[in-house]
Amino acid sequence: MPAVEAMFYEAFWYDLGAQDPARAMKLYEDFLVKHSEHELAPRAARRAHDLLVRTKQGDRAEAFRKKYESWITSVKPGINSPFLDPKLDVQSFVDRFEGESREIFIHRAKILALMGLKEGMRVADVGAGTGLFTWPISRKVGKDGAVYAVEISEGMLEHLTKEKERRSADNVHLVACTERSTMLPPASVDLVFVCDTYHHFEYPAETLASIHAALKPGGALVIVDFERIPGKSREWTLGHVRAGKDEVRKEIEAAGFRFVREEKTPLEENYYVRFEKAAG
Ligand SMILES: C[S@@+](CC[C@H](N)C(=O)[O-])C[C@H]1O[C@@H](n2cnc3c(N)ncnc32)[C@H](O)[C@@H]1O
Repeated sequence: MPAVEAMFYEAFWYDLGAQDPARAMKLYEDFLVKHSEHELAPRAARRAHDLLVRTKQGDRAEAFRKKYESWITSVKPGINSPFLDPKLDVQSFVDRFEGESREIFIHRAKILALMGLKEGMRVADVGAGTGLFTWPISRKVGKDGAVYAVEISEGMLEHLTKEKERRSADNVHLVACTERSTMLPPASVDLVFVCDTYHHFEYPAETLASIHAALKPGGALVIVDFERIPGKSREWTLGHVRAGKDEVRKEIEAAGFRFVREEKTPLEENYYVRFEKAAG
């Protein structure tokens, strides 16, 4: 095992079963100072925070939470509760997401055309929802291509599974992901499409890291999301969507992506931006 990982697991060992919390805490802190860029760093931060809470060191836990906020706290707690509800009424979302009252649905052909899909491409539809874009992407990339329909919602995954069978969409692969990771293998896709889902990412830094890892060098990340302009956007949008386009762009650039362009579209409530993972 590489030395960095051994350091994390040593802390983990002292932490497990509260063997030696003080020692574990010291090791987690050393790990975070020396290896803040390592993929295990968010896990170390969360374990250390939990340890402080468990050992009732409230002030230290709060200071720690503030320092490592994006790894520990959801940026929008509860935003996914409707989708995670075991009694999810999928049909009500089919009606909402695939109806003429939604501009994304009205302009779906334009949104699809702007992706620049080619036969044989491997595409991830992250937050696939009811599959509004999964099926047209599947047809565009053809039998030599693949679509990964990535979802955190069991209810949506069940619906996508039934639809995949009904449509004989053999190139569609369902991926049950977590709120922190898309669970896609490294360097496995050419394009990641995220429609009205970025504002649902509760741990954007971690989810973006997993998208970055999943893209092949030079691969594209396409984001379609709500414009959030105080004084202009609807009240619902201002409450539901936590960040506007400029902030979203900053977060995505901070995750190692290069901004390519904003596309011109007929959309009025949503923007369409393209990023890429630097080649090499
Ligand atoms: C507003 S819907 C959009 C669905 C679809 N992209 C569309 O435009 O019709 C957001 C979807 O993202 C899913 N979701 C939320 N957070 C996610 C995450 N971190 N990773 C993957 N899917 C997520 C939800 O379960 C929900 O189905």
